[in-house]
Amino acid sequence: MHSIPLTLHRCLRPRPDRVARGVDLFEIVNGSSRGDGLFAAVTGAFSFTGRAIAEELLRRGESVRTLSRADAPDDPLRGRVDVAPLDFEPTTLRSSLSGVDTLYNTYWVRFERRGVTFAGAVANTIELFEAARDVGVRRIVHISVANADRADDLPYFAGKHQVEQWLAASGVEHAIIRPTLVFGSHDILINNLAWMLRRTPLFLLPGTGDYLVQPVSVRDVARIAVETRAGVVDAAGPETMSFAALVSAIGDAVRGRARIVAGPRSVGLTINSILGRLIGDVIVTADELEGLSRSLLVTKSEPRGTERFIDWLHEHEAGLGRSYTSELRRNYRADVEATTGLG
Ligand SMILES: NC(=O)c1ccc[n+]([C@@H]2O[C@H](COP(=O)([O-])OP(=O)(O)OC[C@H]3O[C@@H](n4cnc5c(N)ncnc54)[C@H](OP(=O)(O)O)[C@@H]3O)[C@@H](O)[C@H]2O)c1
Repeated sequence: MHSIPLTLHRCLRPRPDRVARGVDLFEIVNGSSRGDGLFAAVTGAFSFTGRAIAEELLRRGESVRTLSRADAPDDPLRGRVDVAPLDFEPTTLRSSLSGVDTLYNTYWVRFERRGVTFAGAVANTIELFEAARDVGVRRIVHISVANADRADDLPYFAGKHQVEQWLAASGVEHAIIRPTLVFGSHDILINNLAWMLRRTPLFLLPGTGDYLVQPVSVRDVARIAVETRAGVVDAAGPETMSFAALVSAIGDAVRGRARIVAGPRSVGLTINSILGRLIGDVIVTADELEGLSRSLLVTKSEPRGTERFIDWLHEHEAGLGRSYTSELRRNYRADVEATTGLG
């Protein structure tokens, strides 16, 4: 059985949005290790894709440790996983990864903002992988993005490409999983599209809306990540549709009141930027719209995902988009606290 060194307890602060009222003590839970005494480590088990991977591993009887920036005492997974800091300080990383057999890495940043950069995300990821190699982690499963090598002019994709190239040259045993557009519980993008379609009178489709997406369920991504032994593998769902069709399906499912109209991308960005300022979030970036418009979230390979977006949508239509999920609050909290005083 491996336990986290006591010093690490102090590195993990409970995050205010993940702490029960009146409960502010962080207490580490040592998950029971599997037969060989080793853990599967997953970044972000209290967030989106990392959560699904952790759940998939637990279902298969693995002992799971999450590397997260903050503890989540109220999270249903909290009692089932070991917790260690996702802190890119080299010594801390090595402690977090000790006793780990396979590292599932979901860490990335969605956009650059006040000190958070894609160059930094690349450097942090390499730091994470080097620490894993140094402490004897046997294998790395890295979550990348569809077409990571096809858009070096977009920093999100360029950074993903750089990390893939580093791994390929590293000599570390690894698999690379390239998801398209991921949907499922705890997602941000689909939920917030539904929120806008419910709450706003007009939804402006950037450009023509005829570019393609191929949504994949987060459970399929997790299964593919856990089952893939090696190589570069796309994680894409069974349906390909235009972005306009995706938005329209969400609008119908949630009985949204928004009229959906196509319009210039620049107008869409301006509207989203004003709305974003009102609600204190970054809703979408110019690069994300550019990536969408090039149909980068689609693959040519045979889809490995089996769960249909449309089925999932209908199962979740009652709750989808009822509340807005803020990317800034979830992932750029230090920035939000520093600039707004919100805690
Ligand atoms: N969501 C999609 O549709 C989609 C599509 C294609 C590829 N991907 C890729 O799949 C992976 C997982 O995506 P996700 O949407 O599931 O991400 P996520 O759960 O929001 O975050 C994944 C991990 O990155 C950390 N993180 C996120 N934003 C950060 C920031 N600004 N600064 C520092 N750390 C940050 C999180 O930290 P905590 O542990 O503290 O939460 C978590 O460990 C990413 O590599 C992403 O590029 C996602």
